[in-house]
Amino acid sequence: MDTWTPDLIRASKGKQFLPALTTYDYPMTRMLDELGIPMLLVGDSLGMVVLGYPDTTHVTMEDMIHHIRAAARAKPKACLVGDMPYQSYETSEQAVRNARRLVEAGAQAVKLEGGHDIGMQIRAIRNAGIPCVGHLGMLPQHILEEGSYKIKGRRENERRQLLEDAAFLETVGVCALVIELVEPNLSQKITSVTSAPTIGIGSGPHCDGQILVTHDLVGSFPWFRPKFVKPRLQATRQMQDAVRTWRCDEDGLYKQNHHSKPSPAS
Ligand code: KIV
Repeated sequence: MDTWTPDLIRASKGKQFLPALTTYDYPMTRMLDELGIPMLLVGDSLGMVVLGYPDTTHVTMEDMIHHIRAAARAKPKACLVGDMPYQSYETSEQAVRNARRLVEAGAQAVKLEGGHDIGMQIRAIRNAGIPCVGHLGMLPQHILEEGSYKIKGRRENERRQLLEDAAFLETVGVCALVIELVEPNLSQKITSVTSAPTIGIGSGPHCDGQILVTHDLVGSFPWFRPKFVKPRLQATRQMQDAVRTWRCDEDGLYKQNHHSKPSPAS
C-alpha cells in the first residue's frame, strides 16, 4: 500500500480519484488507513461530532493537538492533515507558531479556511516549509457571520472571488484544495483551471476527489446530517440494537438465576 505525502497528493491530480475522510482518534485512523484512503483529515468538525459543540468556532488548539496526536499514533500511510482551528491564524506569526505545533503533534500538512483574506498567514506557513491544504467555499469557521451553511458561487461576485482565491492558493503552492458547498459548475471550473487537486464536499461530482465527515458517512452522528450526504451505514442505530439485545439477554439471565435460587433471607 502507498505511503501518501503532501507532494504525492498534489501529484495525483489527473491520475486518480482522491478520496479523503475525516478522522479523530487512533482506532478510526487505523480502520480508515487499512482501507488505503490517501488523505485523512483531523478536521475541526470534531467540535460537533466528537466534542458536542454547536459549531467549529469552539475548537481550540489543545483540542486539535490532542486528536492529531491520537490519530498519528496509528502511524497512517495516509497523508495526515490537521485543521488550524478558529482564530489560531490571525497573524502570520501566530499562524506559523500554531502550524508548527500541529506538525509536532503528527500532522504532515495543515488546512486553513480562506483565500486572499488569509494570504499573509498561508504564505508565512508555506515559507516555513509546512505543506498546506486550502479550503474555499462555505467556510464553517465563518458560521457566526453567515448564519447558516449555504451554497457558494451562485452570485457573480462570489464566483469571481472564488476563482481568484483558487488561483491565489495555487500560487502559494497548496497540495490540495477543499471546496465546500460550491455550486457544481463552478467547482468543475475551479477543478479545470487549478493544478492542485480539488477535494469536494457537497460541491458536485466534478472535483478530483471527495471528502466527507466520516460520522456522516457511517451514520454515527445521526442527530445532524448535511443534506448532500447519503449514509452507507446506520452505525448509531446498529450500536443501539446491540446494546438493547445485550441488555435484554443479561436481564433474562439475571431473572433466571434469581428466580431459581432461594433468596438468602428465606
Ligand atoms: O472539519 C472538517 O471536517 C472539514 C471537512 C469536512 C472538509 O473541514
